[in-house]
Amino acid sequence: MFKDLCNYANDPIEALFKRLADDTDPHKIDLGIGVFRDDSGRVPVMQSVRLAEQQLFARDLPKSYMSPLGNADYCRDMERLAFGPDHPVLADGRIISAQTPGAGSALRAGAELAHSLSPDSVVWVSEPVWGHQLEFFEKAGVQIRKYRYYDQLNSVSQFEKMQEDLRAMKANDLLLLHGCCHNPTGHDLNIDQWRIVAELTVSTGAVPFVDVAYQGFGAGIEEDVAGMRLLAEIVPQMLLTVSSSKSFGIYRERAGLLSVIVSPDAKDKESVRRKLRDTVRQLYFMAPDHGAAVVHEILSTPELEKLWRQELNAIRHHVVNMRGALRKSIEAANPDFDASFLVTQKGMFSCLPISDDEQRLIEQQFHIYMLPNARVNAAAMNDTQSATLAEAFAFVRARRHARAKQASA
Ligand SMILES: Cc1ncc(COP(=O)(O)O)c(C=O)c1O
Repeated sequence: MFKDLCNYANDPIEALFKRLADDTDPHKIDLGIGVFRDDSGRVPVMQSVRLAEQQLFARDLPKSYMSPLGNADYCRDMERLAFGPDHPVLADGRIISAQTPGAGSALRAGAELAHSLSPDSVVWVSEPVWGHQLEFFEKAGVQIRKYRYYDQLNSVSQFEKMQEDLRAMKANDLLLLHGCCHNPTGHDLNIDQWRIVAELTVSTGAVPFVDVAYQGFGAGIEEDVAGMRLLAEIVPQMLLTVSSSKSFGIYRERAGLLSVIVSPDAKDKESVRRKLRDTVRQLYFMAPDHGAAVVHEILSTPELEKLWRQELNAIRHHVVNMRGALRKSIEAANPDFDASFLVTQKGMFSCLPISDDEQRLIEQQFHIYMLPNARVNAAAMNDTQSATLAEAFAFVRARRHARAKQASA
């Protein structure tokens, strides 16, 4: 069965991690993977998570099977975290959720669910895109269309072009949006733009599919989902995925939410629940519980929730400070360059305005590893690394200018 399998294409991200692992330079810098690191380079475990784990352990809980829809308490808590306690979607009982093994599985299952109900629907994804989103939808059989979102080489929004592209959406097409801290660009829509996008989906009949993976990393736990909450007030139906990986720092425990928000005139919510249950069961049977149980323990214990909010706020401040430090280093090394986009963008990631070739050159000469679109993780950087990155950026810019001069001579 397997002996003839050869030259199976490598994924560019895996290839990058292999180059990183093979690089023997003691000062190599990994700005790739999307995790938060503290100043010492550790991926810390939150105190609230440790305390919740101790409480769970002390209670001697069972380990029997759960429903394919996962931990129902987790679902209720995460719905409340995403929407706030008083949102009409919750008050009207229009939300049906599953706890999934992380938001990656939620995206895949949401794609599968939508495709099985509406096989001709396409999904509209941002350009630049987080590559795994393409994979999740493609493998579910959903055709991909791209909308212009952000001009990487000029570090500017393309909101006018985004609207132009989205006017071509058809009824039941999916519109994939990032709830906050857009991956890879860090560029988010403002609240007026969320309203415009919401109205565009209503007028075209498209269905928004919002991917919230970094709640609390941008402007604040509530602020980061304000656009998504507004959208959910305007549109009749939508899909939502929420990751607990980053916001609770439980990446490997695999806890995420997949919610279907049905329209007020939905005929049979129980059928939607059963369809969701069957979809996830056919994909992965059922989700692991530990991460979801930890999140539920935190969100249902007021002192732990308070502590968690403080810890997440501290992480956000660290990320904001690192963004400021990176801007300062880049502007110091490139006095003619305005790097203010680094502090207006949100969350872990931003894309440097450099070409693929320049990114490769930085990798070879400076041992700095970035993901496609020169995506850097500001949340994983310390001051020394940010200074080295600034130096590398100055190097490729000087080279680019010298080449342009040569070409025009
Ligand atoms: C935008 C986005 N969505 C979803 C995910 C998936 O997160 P997880 O599967 O760890 O919950 C990620 C992870 O990096 C992400 O960046």
